[in-house]
Amino acid sequence: MRLHGEDAATTSGGATQDVTTESLTLLEKAALLTGKTVWETRDLPRHGVRSLWLADGPHGVRKQLGAADHLGIAASQPATCFPTAAAVANTWDVTLAERIGAALGAEAAAQGVDVLLGPGLNIKRSPLGGRNFEYFSEDPLLAGRLAAGYVRGIQAQGVAACPKHYAVNSQELRRMVSDSVVDERTLREIYLSAFGIVVTEARPRSIMSSYNLVNGVYAHEDPFLLGTVLREEWGFDGAVISDWGGSNDVVAAVAAGGTLEMPAAGLDSARQIVDAVRAGRIAQADVDARAAEVLRLVADARRAPAPEVDPLEQHALAREVAARSAVLLKNDDGLLPLAPATRVAVVGDFARAPRYQGAGSSAVNPTRLDSVLDVISRSGLEMTAFAAGFRRDGTPDAALRAEAVEAARGADVTLLFLGLDEIAESEGLDRSTLALHAAQVEVLRAVAEVNPRTVVVLAGGGVVEVPWLASAQALVHGFLAGQAGAGGLLDVLTGVVNPSGHLAETVPVTLADTPTAGTFPAQGRTAEYREGLYVGYRYYATAGVPVAFPFGYGLSYTTFAHSGLTATADAATVTVTNTGPVAGADVVQVYVSRVSPGVHRPARTLAGFARVELEPGESATVTVPLGDAAFRHWDVATGAWQVERGTWRVLAGAHVDDLPLSAEVEVPGTVPPRTEDLPERYRTGDIRDVPDADFSALLGRPLPSSAWSRPLTVNDPLSAMAGARSPLARLAYRVLAWRRDVADRRGKPDLNILFLLNMPFRAIGKMTNGMVDAATVDGIVRIVNGRFLSGVAATVRAFLRNRRANRRTARELAGDAPGRSA
Ligand code: BGC
Repeated sequence: MRLHGEDAATTSGGATQDVTTESLTLLEKAALLTGKTVWETRDLPRHGVRSLWLADGPHGVRKQLGAADHLGIAASQPATCFPTAAAVANTWDVTLAERIGAALGAEAAAQGVDVLLGPGLNIKRSPLGGRNFEYFSEDPLLAGRLAAGYVRGIQAQGVAACPKHYAVNSQELRRMVSDSVVDERTLREIYLSAFGIVVTEARPRSIMSSYNLVNGVYAHEDPFLLGTVLREEWGFDGAVISDWGGSNDVVAAVAAGGTLEMPAAGLDSARQIVDAVRAGRIAQADVDARAAEVLRLVADARRAPAPEVDPLEQHALAREVAARSAVLLKNDDGLLPLAPATRVAVVGDFARAPRYQGAGSSAVNPTRLDSVLDVISRSGLEMTAFAAGFRRDGTPDAALRAEAVEAARGADVTLLFLGLDEIAESEGLDRSTLALHAAQVEVLRAVAEVNPRTVVVLAGGGVVEVPWLASAQALVHGFLAGQAGAGGLLDVLTGVVNPSGHLAETVPVTLADTPTAGTFPAQGRTAEYREGLYVGYRYYATAGVPVAFPFGYGLSYTTFAHSGLTATADAATVTVTNTGPVAGADVVQVYVSRVSPGVHRPARTLAGFARVELEPGESATVTVPLGDAAFRHWDVATGAWQVERGTWRVLAGAHVDDLPLSAEVEVPGTVPPRTEDLPERYRTGDIRDVPDADFSALLGRPLPSSAWSRPLTVNDPLSAMAGARSPLARLAYRVLAWRRDVADRRGKPDLNILFLLNMPFRAIGKMTNGMVDAATVDGIVRIVNGRFLSGVAATVRAFLRNRRANRRTARELAGDAPGRSA
């Protein structure tokens, strides 16, 4: 077995002693801080320090034993593919999240994985985010709590969790070079909050830094993000692992608190660290601290092999989760649930080839995969016909549509499976639209005309516009429901499971209504977060923009009544009653809204929630803790969290736009109400088209330039070769772009090419297992900038020098040569 030219070490090798940094040489400590292969940390056999095996990911284990890549391209060992985070988030069920985490952890442990790279908890800034399927919510409280559940579950199995991507990693376009420009209040309240919750509540043993820069500094070397916030404020004492190829300057990373650069950057990194200590550019103590973090991860890893998991039990859990994640969005005249023996026409390509997970590093090789056609015979429904109805890639096909209409005509009910195809969303690729393919909508309209009793079941990692809603008598969104999703969704359609999913993200009326419409994804070097705090429902609720389905929305086959709200600054208590005919689960949502004047704030913010299962007629009284976390804001004046003294409203109900219960509370606070000198738009939520001056006022400094540098630097993306001086580089760009376009036209995005186009030149040095060092990359960039001869000479010289140096360092590490290690 060979991974990128090196033998993969076994992860179940001999027991690791608790080695301390004192017994290691400087070179050994430095070598621990950069990966050994795509998936392994470096071992130090002389000291009994073994390699750790790291594997994706967030909804299933992706352990590759053959060819290794970080994009989900080559095969991996079969594992259970659970519903993705975007689905699970709709459960608002932290206990379920913990069960999923435990199942993931058990499977990871059984496969000898030491660190599971997940969950993903970035905030969904725009519904266009290509990786939104891997993330939970537009709300940090919900995202953080669910992620904490996963982490507790994973780590209870002896596997380290690695929540990711810290932080402000909101777009896929040029994710490795994009600079997220965001004011500190927004950063703290929106983009860091969920990470704060996961770190303080669940104590993950590692965390993954993101590719992007935040306010001009790469996340993996940001002393503010890694030092001040993560380690000092939140007390994180684990390992900060770079995203794959996301380390920029390893020396800066070590000083800032970045522990381990992945994948295998080679021994050049170790030499850079040693040289920096020798030259006094970083403190020896920083290297010791980082090495100790790696050693702790090794010491805490499982030593005994874990038992096998039962794939059938895991599949059953995946099915249960899929059913509990589905959101019933419309159910006119109680069309659902369908009675046994209902004669259904099944229409839609997704019924035979499900869209059940997303593309990229999270892609799992499922232990089995159920389609609706596979499992419908066991649902009690009588399938009268199946018709694919449309082509997945959106190409119009009148014959397929006609077949669908024929199938629908004679049935009691049509089950129409629509969704986003594989190319619509992916790691490395943001969505360009929120619309379903027109071909699918045409099928819906045609089918509904002959059979109005049409149920639309959606698949996709995010939300879609629903201008066609009137044609569907019922609508269920299953998101990406995992390998057992088909069975889970049929359980919902037939009432075996009463739906209890509630949207963890708003469904806007149109893309044009979203707070970042027209600016997401950012095209230049910087991504400016001009909308500030107004993300998702915080925007719609404040600016009064109507939505198709609000945050928190979801129907059930029963009904619930909320009553008797009482609230203090510390907690809210609400009584929920199941007023309908069947057992079901409700999610009571509690929001807060400030009555007294003060700093700008969204109209309401989620402060807590509770999920309750109730028999018909049964009531339960739930208490939702509030406290400072519910009322606080990041106070720019004091550079600290503060709570404004004054009157607040505590609101409770079914979703953000249906909060009939309200109680006023006096909050003692930590500061008197604040005044602030900001443009009025940040008060009213009028944050579309924010002029430079207004954003600059929010930011508290002038706007950084978003232009690309000329000549190109090692930190510019390969896609910038489009405008390079060298004709060779422009040709290289055209070849890459052509390969991207060909793949797109085939309906299967080439993730490798997308990664290359978005990747900065310096990552060539970070991802070639030591073959290319930083000096070689400098030579390559010189060629790109049109200095061909001197560039080639520098490249060749550096390449050879690096090869020699690698051999020498490897000998030193093996203990048979003197040198830097002293
Ligand atoms: C992704 C990470 C993933 C890593 C390893 C990166 O491209 O952004 O989420 O864990 O690859 O596969």
